[in-house]
Amino acid sequence: MKKIKRSKEFEIILTINDDNFIRPPNNIQRNAVLNRALKEFVGDLKILDTQTKHFVPGSLSQPLSADREQKIMEAQEIMEDWQIPLMQEMAKAIAEGGGDILEIGFGRGISAEMILNFPINTYTAIECNNDVINTYFKQFKEKHAAKKINLVPGLWQDTIDALDVFDGILFHTYPLNDDEYMQYVNGSVTFAEHFFSLAAKHLKPGGAFTYFSNEIDSLSREHQKLLLNHFSSFTIKVIPLEIPEDVHDTWWANTIVVIKAIK
Ligand SMILES: C[S@@+](CC[C@H](N)C(=O)[O-])C[C@H]1O[C@@H](n2cnc3c(N)ncnc32)[C@H](O)[C@@H]1O
Repeated sequence: MKKIKRSKEFEIILTINDDNFIRPPNNIQRNAVLNRALKEFVGDLKILDTQTKHFVPGSLSQPLSADREQKIMEAQEIMEDWQIPLMQEMAKAIAEGGGDILEIGFGRGISAEMILNFPINTYTAIECNNDVINTYFKQFKEKHAAKKINLVPGLWQDTIDALDVFDGILFHTYPLNDDEYMQYVNGSVTFAEHFFSLAAKHLKPGGAFTYFSNEIDSLSREHQKLLLNHFSSFTIKVIPLEIPEDVHDTWWANTIVVIKAIK
């Protein structure tokens, strides 16, 4: 079976070699679902055409030169400033209801400061980088000496099992090496996907999990299905960005999506 969609700009040819592939009871149904799949793909291509016209050029992205687990980094290497508006949205998503909050990846402590502005009970961070801990986390802890702040040093992969459940979890790490890049970025629908099951495991019923996804203005069908495997519902917010022309991160669009998923 062959289906072709033609437009002035492109042509899509779908060839199905296996007669039993997508084989509902009758051919009208088969045609209907295949037409819908192709229509969605055509729609995606047209949207991408518009969106990519607004991309900034960015700096040439370099492969991860060294393992970043203990690398000593400049502030902008830890997190570029264009991400700060996202931190505000993510902090609100998980902390506005108060309670016990867990953050995976302390970084510069910008989202942590925002989380503490909400009426929360406890704040816990898991952070693997000793230099980040000794500079940013130490200052944060001293500044907020009266608050209930806990640090779990180490990789979340090695430490999270010992932790209990939380009202809110914010996930904001990055790949530490090429292997993680291949697995968590190239091999995933969205970077945070590898943390979904643990986020759900460490949330109280009704608790919220947040992260951002490198999708420009919505979530793909595949992404939504993955979320619904672990959470009861989710909301998304499209955040406008002031993205620098020479951005180092691999993101070039002028919007990005923040997700709030509820257990
Ligand atoms: C992008 S920064 C977080 C920025 C933070 N949201 C802020 O507002 O400053 C990511 C942090 O996650 C930490 N990290 C990355 N992978 C980790 C892992 N597997 N376990 C624990 N921490 C990790 C990094 O060391 C880094 O400090």
